[in-house]
Amino acid sequence: MQKQDIAHLAQEAKKSIQSAKTAAELEALRVRFIGRKDGEVTKLMKQLPALSVEDRRTVGPALNALKNEVEQLLTARVKDLADEADRRQAIDVTMPGKKVATGHLHPLTLVEREIRDVFKAMNFSVVEGPEVESEHYNFDALNIPANHPARDMWDTFWLATSDKRQATSKKNNMSHVADRLLLRTHTSPVQIRYMEQHQPPFQIVVPGRVFRYEATDASHEINFYQVEGLMVGKDVTLANFKFVIGEFFKRLFKKDVSIRLRPSYFPFVEPGLDVDVECVKCGGKGCNICKDSGWLEVMGAGMVHPHVFEAAGYGPHEYQGFAFGLGLERIAMIKYNIPDIRLFYSGDLRFIKQF
Ligand code: PHE
Repeated sequence: MQKQDIAHLAQEAKKSIQSAKTAAELEALRVRFIGRKDGEVTKLMKQLPALSVEDRRTVGPALNALKNEVEQLLTARVKDLADEADRRQAIDVTMPGKKVATGHLHPLTLVEREIRDVFKAMNFSVVEGPEVESEHYNFDALNIPANHPARDMWDTFWLATSDKRQATSKKNNMSHVADRLLLRTHTSPVQIRYMEQHQPPFQIVVPGRVFRYEATDASHEINFYQVEGLMVGKDVTLANFKFVIGEFFKRLFKKDVSIRLRPSYFPFVEPGLDVDVECVKCGGKGCNICKDSGWLEVMGAGMVHPHVFEAAGYGPHEYQGFAFGLGLERIAMIKYNIPDIRLFYSGDLRFIKQF
């Protein structure tokens, strides 16, 4: 065995290890050079005993050094290949990013939240009530007895009442007629529900879904949303109503809008009012939105009727207060210039994505 053999083997190992492309190739090279049984370096080492003492002194350390070198080369190359793979997978910061798709809140949700916030800032509490309501809360307790012509103002979805319910109401000596169930036609029943549980003074708003059995068109839907308001105390007056509602519309439309109160009729208020706001599009000059009147009708309101206080368990002349009910869609249509109420429930993403 010559020194050149060792040098030659060293070169051979270096070259093949450097050009290896995979971990598997490197493993094969490890076996080929320093494998325990048939490695080329190993085989030379096995020949050492046959050499002269002098030769052994130089060849031995040279072979050991070669073995170490091959080991180091292999380890270094394994690491190089791994680093290279990492680099290939690394994030390329110059690539355009992936767009994160965000959802949109429904315009009615947006407007409802704004309305809640405006009233909360004026110290109103937000309360809710059931969508399936009894005839008692939706009508009778609101001074709309059976056969009262005012029931025609609300086209009602009546629910089929089970025999069991009717039996219980008979047993409790309640007229089962007054116990019939319906989908509430307005949020006003929550006035009674709240007053049964609370004593004045208080001021609440009640956002919620209501239902009317009527034909749909650009301004009518069979289900829509209202926000009811009720403020009751010893000396709450119509002047308080005018101020609160004027302030509400200023804050909601973020400008100084005029309001107008007109006499109207609802059985649960006396006097009853319709509330108009100055057309936010034309500022009162007259346009297609306000049908050239300069005003937009936005809510019904009035001073709570003594019969309503009685139905809720208060003395009829103990308290006074105002109530109002506004249509959420109507407000949203005015605010966002939306031409057709049916768009809110169309499920059309092209509509929703604009908000
Ligand atoms: N509940 C009435 C409606 O739906 C609106 C209203 C509420 C009117 C409160 C007066 C007072 O038409």
